[in-house]
Amino acid sequence: KLLSDQEAPSLETDAYRLTVTPQGAHLASGGREGRIYGLATLRQLRDQLAEQPEGIPCGIITDKPRYPWRGLMVDPARHFIPAADLKKFVDMMAYYKFNKLQIHLTDDQGWRLPVPGYPKLKSIASRREESFEDGIPHEGMYTKQELKELVAYCAARGIEVIPEIDVPGHNQALHAAYPEFFCFPKPDMNVRTTAGNSKELVCPQKPEVWKFYAAVFKELKDIFPSGIVHLGGDEAPLEKTWAKCPLSIQYREQKGMKDVHEELKEFIKKMSSLLAVHGKRIQLWYEKPWARANIYNKGDTVFTWRMGLTPSTITETKKQGLSLIIAAGEHCYLDYPQLPGQNNRGWMPTTTLEQSYRLDPAYGRPEKETNHIIGVQGTVWGEHLPSLNHILYRAYPRACAIAEAGWSPMSVRSWENFRRKLADHRQFILKRFNYDMERTKENE
Ligand code: ACM
Repeated sequence: KLLSDQEAPSLETDAYRLTVTPQGAHLASGGREGRIYGLATLRQLRDQLAEQPEGIPCGIITDKPRYPWRGLMVDPARHFIPAADLKKFVDMMAYYKFNKLQIHLTDDQGWRLPVPGYPKLKSIASRREESFEDGIPHEGMYTKQELKELVAYCAARGIEVIPEIDVPGHNQALHAAYPEFFCFPKPDMNVRTTAGNSKELVCPQKPEVWKFYAAVFKELKDIFPSGIVHLGGDEAPLEKTWAKCPLSIQYREQKGMKDVHEELKEFIKKMSSLLAVHGKRIQLWYEKPWARANIYNKGDTVFTWRMGLTPSTITETKKQGLSLIIAAGEHCYLDYPQLPGQNNRGWMPTTTLEQSYRLDPAYGRPEKETNHIIGVQGTVWGEHLPSLNHILYRAYPRACAIAEAGWSPMSVRSWENFRRKLADHRQFILKRFNYDMERTKENE
């Protein structure tokens, strides 16, 4: 029973103190976030109590997160996730004190954001013939109202929603709907039906592209109060498109640009300006060739993600004055198999729960080398995850490990202790969320 619930000016806004006595609990928090986290802890203690009739220990918990950014990314572009299912996913995130939900709205395999004036996003880009030759058509598009409701639902649980519109690459679905946005328009282009990324990059030298993204960003502004838009920026093979595009070649010559990277720098800058009009800043997936070409600007936030590159990326991003979020492939890619023998789709490295747990976001380095790291993020890429059950089966329990990596300092973490806690949490998850890890094994 919650006996008192008060603000305590001595605590930071995301900190709380929970005092458990035989009569009930007293919550003190520094601000709205701290209160939400304190209530989340209380919820876990209640679940513990339900499992443990002898009661929970009395005591005082004084707590706050190690990092301000503790996120998960979902991928409705690859398989549409109905809004009601996203809310269930969010319930579990809130239970583990995640505070950021990145929603990957666009990719080669589907476009999920409606944009006024662009009806073919729905009639063409949100549909595909099949997935991996299964012969079953797949489609899905959110309504503006659904997304607004999701944002409000998340906000009530202390979670900020960050939309991702991937540019310039990962845009085969967009090409199917609007071939005129591309360097080499192919009217017979289809929405991609397999995994793997396309070489479909929007053409920066076509005015209709800029008109389109202005409309996209206006829509984002209406829906998402977050001051951030993730612009992707990953896996964009410039050499195969912009390098050969007559319009781009002519433009680079005119401007005296020495290569496509200079054109890319201008492209990202122009995109940032379009978003700045709405008071929004960009985030990007970090790519080393982009960094070498000085695409990122001091103060930008990027994500480290490629396998094995995080240690060097921590050093490089510090030098460039960037903020960094750790989504390291070897710990944070939660669509990868987590048990040996689980379907690895022919290439994915098995990433065990222990491997995810072993993440120290600072990689054991001193504060002065890592004070630009603002947090962690698990990514749940959806190429092979066609339902909420598939998503949860892969994401958990590893998401619990990522949550702890973002929340707790290394001094209080231990794999043995985590495993012991997880045995309890398995019961909580089963009861509270009606999600049975064994039952969904068939969904591998
Ligand atoms: C990514 O996995 N392409 C960021």
